[in-house]
Amino acid sequence: MSAPLLQLGEVTKSFGGIHALSAVTSGVPEGKIVGIIGPNGAGKTTLFNVITGAYRADSGTVRLNGTALNGLPPHQIAREGIARTFQNIRLFPSMTVWEHLLVAQPHRESWWRRLLPVGWGDPAAQVRAVEVMEFFGLTDLRDRPAKSLPYGMQRRVEMARALTARPKLLLLDEPVAGMNHDEAEEIRQLMLKLRATGLTILLIEHDMNFVMRLCDYLYVLDFGVLIAEGAPSEVRTNPRVLDAYLGKDE
Ligand SMILES: Nc1ncnc2c1ncn2[C@@H]1O[C@H](COP(=O)(O)OP(=O)(O)O)[C@@H](O)[C@H]1O
Ligand SMILES: [Mg+2]
Repeated sequence: MSAPLLQLGEVTKSFGGIHALSAVTSGVPEGKIVGIIGPNGAGKTTLFNVITGAYRADSGTVRLNGTALNGLPPHQIAREGIARTFQNIRLFPSMTVWEHLLVAQPHRESWWRRLLPVGWGDPAAQVRAVEVMEFFGLTDLRDRPAKSLPYGMQRRVEMARALTARPKLLLLDEPVAGMNHDEAEEIRQLMLKLRATGLTILLIEHDMNFVMRLCDYLYVLDFGVLIAEGAPSEVRTNPRVLDAYLGKDE
């Protein structure tokens, strides 16, 4: 088997006495949708923060396409091809949808063009922004302040923004949290379309129904320890998982 796109080896991270991640080893194959599930406080978001360089692991390795990312600053990890969304939406209060889709893109243009107003910027960035805006159904909302939109739409703006940088790997932290069933189903369809384009997705999600119907493979974290992994159908019936997660707070 070829090496996975993202490979974590024995990743460990503590905060004081809290073992947020204990020797987590996992892999995300290219072109797949992989889910991380587990109760609150299991270490899921911490794992994303280690992958993206927001936190430095105490020990262990993070590799993308075989390249070690450990210790690189977040902007460099982004440049290697990893983009993310946040559990708590992070949009800029004064910016429109359109502006959000331009700011996250790497600058390919000359320094003097960057001094021009956003709307006059890099044509390639604009083409990409239009592409993701149409894909996420945001075209009619283009000039609205992103923060003024309904919650589900704000989540779409976040996902769209992450995709403008053309990542190899997209990390989504609870992408359908707070969405109703129909909104979540639309997101599920969009994720499947993205997978069909070859994008690799690693997502954290609380909505078990959503995860089970979307993911190719699942990892289950509990108190920082990987307690199970496998296809959704296997994980669903794993006694350790039922014990740790499904029985507890669902
Ligand atoms: N910056 C931090 N400082 C201290 N403790 C943290 C920090 N980030 C996370 N933790 C702790 O690490 C554990 C895992 O948190 P988190 O990764 O957010 O869990 P999850 O996303 O699975 O709900 C929790 O006990 C949390 O309180
Ligand atoms: Mg979290």
